[in-house]
Amino acid sequence: MDSKPVSRRTILQGAAVAGLAGASGFVPTKFAIGNTAKVKVGIMLPYSGTYAGLGEAITNGMKMAIAEKGGKLGGRDIEYVAVDDESDPAKAPENTNKLVTGEKVDFVVGTVHSGVAMGMVKVTKQSGTITIIPNAGANAATGPMCSPNIFRTSFSNWQTTFPLGKVAIEKGYKNVVTMTWKYAAGEEMIGAFEEHFTSRGGRIARQILVPFPNVEFQANLTEIAALKPDAVMCFFAGAGALKFVKDYAAAGLKGIPLIGPGFLTDGVLKGQGEAAEGILTTLHYADNLDTPLNKTFRAAYEKQFGKGADVYAVQGYDAGQLLVQAMAAVKGDTSAQPALIAAMEKAEIKSPRGNFTFSKAHNPIQDIYLREVKNGQETVLGVAQKGLIDPARGCKAV
Ligand code: BEZ
Repeated sequence: MDSKPVSRRTILQGAAVAGLAGASGFVPTKFAIGNTAKVKVGIMLPYSGTYAGLGEAITNGMKMAIAEKGGKLGGRDIEYVAVDDESDPAKAPENTNKLVTGEKVDFVVGTVHSGVAMGMVKVTKQSGTITIIPNAGANAATGPMCSPNIFRTSFSNWQTTFPLGKVAIEKGYKNVVTMTWKYAAGEEMIGAFEEHFTSRGGRIARQILVPFPNVEFQANLTEIAALKPDAVMCFFAGAGALKFVKDYAAAGLKGIPLIGPGFLTDGVLKGQGEAAEGILTTLHYADNLDTPLNKTFRAAYEKQFGKGADVYAVQGYDAGQLLVQAMAAVKGDTSAQPALIAAMEKAEIKSPRGNFTFSKAHNPIQDIYLREVKNGQETVLGVAQKGLIDPARGCKAV
C-alpha cells in the first residue's frame, strides 16, 4: 500500500487533475488523490568510484525507455530521487532507508554491486517497496531473499558464467586459474563456472582473490605466469576491468587465454584496445547483436548521450520498460500493489538483448551469448545457452 501522507500540495494537485479530467475526457479508472501526485522513483546507484560509469549507463538507459513512451508512468509525471551508493555495502541500509522512509518513494531502482544489493533488498523486502535491480547479480536476491516485491532486469551471477564451464571444456582447457575481487559477484560467478567446469572434468589450479576495489594486480599476474594454466577465468568490471585487461597484456600473459563473464570487456572495450583482443566471454548481451531492435536502441542511445550503449544501459532500459508496462496496467495507481506485481510478473520485455520474461523468482529467463573480441569488436560467436533460467536455489517466498 502507498502510505504516503497526503499533503495540502498533493490535494491541490489532485483538484487540478480532476478539473483537467473534465476538460480532456481523461478519467483515471480508480481516482485516488495521492495518485495524482508525481510518481517517485528512487534510484540507488554508484555515481562515484570504480562502478560510476555503470551507474550512469543504467540511469541513461532507464530514463531513455521512459522518455520514449511519453516520459510518464501510468499517465503520471515522475520525480526521480537519486542516491550515490558509492558501491559501499556498509552504507546500503542507510542509503535505502533515505529513499524508502525519508523520501517515501513508490519504487526503488538499484543497484550495481551485489553486496550493496543484499543490504538494499533486506530493507525493501521489509518495507514492501517494489524494487527493480538493474544490475547486481547477487544470487540471494532471487534466491533465499526472493520476495514478491523484488524484480531483476539484469542477471543472476550464476546465470552469466554457468555456460562458460562447458565452453572452457570444449576449448580443451583442463587446468584453469580463477581470479576476482573478493565479494559475492565474482565469487558466485566463479562458483557457477567451477560447478559446470569441474563436473565435466576440469580442474581449478588456484583461486586468486583481490580486495574490492583494489587494482594493484602485479603480484597476482607474476603468480599466474609461474602457474602456467591453460586459461585464466576472471571477474572484474568497470574501471577495474579496464585496468586488469591492460595489465594482463602488459605483463606478457596474452599467451594464456583470458575468459570470463562479459563484464570484463563491456563498456570498457574501447579503452582496453589491443589488450582485449581474443578475450572470450559469456553474457546476456553483446553490442553487435544483429537485430533491428538492438540497432535502433544503440543508434538512439549514441545520439542522445554521445557514447555507445553497453550491457548496463540495456539493463537500465529494460528496468524503464518494466516500470512503463506495469504502471500502464494499473493506470498509475501505485496503491494497487498486487495488480502491479502481477503485471510485472506477466511482463514481456522487448529488450535489445532479445525478448525475455521473468522466472517465478523474478529473474530474467534469457539467452546467454558467447562473445569474442575480434578487431576491437565484441563479436557474437553464438548462443552458449538458450533460455537459461536461474535455479533460484533457496527461494521459497514466490
Ligand atoms: C555485481 O556486483 O553484482 C556486479 C558488478 C558489476 C558488474 C556485474 C556484477
